[in-house]
Amino acid sequence: MTDPTTLDHVDAPALLDRLGRPLRDLRVSVTDRCNFRCRYCMPREVFGPGFEFLPRDEILSFEEITTLTRVFAGLGVRKVRLTGGEPTLRAQLPRLVGMLAEIPDLDITMTTNGSLLKSMARPLAEAGLDRVTVSLDSLDDAIFRSMNDMDFPVHLVLEGIAAAEATGLTPVKINAVVRRGVNDHTLVDLARHFKGTGHIVRFIEYMDVGTTNGWRLDEVVPATELIERIHAEMPLRPLEPSYRGEVAQRWAYEDGSGEIGLITSVTQPFCGDCTRARVTAAGELVTCLFGTHGFDLRARLRDGSSDEALAEAIRGVWTQRDDRYSELRSEATRDLPRLEMSRLGG
Ligand SMILES: C[S@@+](CC[C@H](N)C(=O)[O-])C[C@H]1O[C@@H](n2cnc3c(N)ncnc32)[C@H](O)[C@@H]1O
Ligand code: SF4
Repeated sequence: MTDPTTLDHVDAPALLDRLGRPLRDLRVSVTDRCNFRCRYCMPREVFGPGFEFLPRDEILSFEEITTLTRVFAGLGVRKVRLTGGEPTLRAQLPRLVGMLAEIPDLDITMTTNGSLLKSMARPLAEAGLDRVTVSLDSLDDAIFRSMNDMDFPVHLVLEGIAAAEATGLTPVKINAVVRRGVNDHTLVDLARHFKGTGHIVRFIEYMDVGTTNGWRLDEVVPATELIERIHAEMPLRPLEPSYRGEVAQRWAYEDGSGEIGLITSVTQPFCGDCTRARVTAAGELVTCLFGTHGFDLRARLRDGSSDEALAEAIRGVWTQRDDRYSELRSEATRDLPRLEMSRLGG
């Protein structure tokens, strides 16, 4: 496993974009489907019966994902994160992990809602997965069931986290999206629950990704406010980032019992350090979470392009990249036709 803290010292020459940001991380969406309907991501009014998900032949095969990841690794990527939609819904996911694990010096991680992790943690770990991030927005069962809009209970996600811990997919990161008036009053409890366990809770400011979730700024709880609330009960001190491009601001408990993270993409955007490329389930290369379109890598894969030709195409996109939507967010950008998070891979 590669130590993420050493990512600035890797030997592959960095590919820089127009703002000098190196390409280091790849997020691959392995499916656009999900078994939850989190209202901030896939509201059932839009993603309910009748919504057309991608047909099987439009989704990248495991071979195609592996080819792309190998090419990205050759361009300096040192960490791949499997995401979606819900990645554990993709049939035979451990087989893909095993194929990716053949690529040298690559850290393999996954973001999941945890619903299937209890049974999948072991096969994934055995195939070569290094760590997982599990999304869990509240420990309050009624609130969690309502937020995932599938009546899915907290205890099954906690069992998935326990399975991840037991199989060494650690430290587990726990992602919680914060919505004012929905779950924010339960988040000190979430922090307290994982304090001292070695797991790292990361609070994510509710973002205006996509166009279907009815996002409103007044539902965003600024990270500084959340820190104050947690600090009042469990004193915290700020930590330095462990590597360039780390998305979360890190805070440690003063009593030495662990740390939490804050992902402040609304109130304190971190575009200047963004080292991430994203590939959608349909093989589009997207360079910003708030992007409006992608570059079609699937067409290149399927027309028989060589690895070098694929690398050249990716180089062309990355070196032209100058996105910094979160820093420019304003009235003028509000109505842009953004891609949905479930398609992009969060
Ligand atoms: C799109 S999900 C995909 C992986 C998996 N289904 C999961 O939920 O962990 C990835 C992450 O994006 C987060 N997310 C989705 N919509 C969001 C929004 N509008 N604002 C902030 N985070 C969001 C989710 O909470 C999750 O942690
Ligand atoms: S956040 Fe994850 S679990 Fe929730 S609807 Fe989106 S893809 Fe599914």
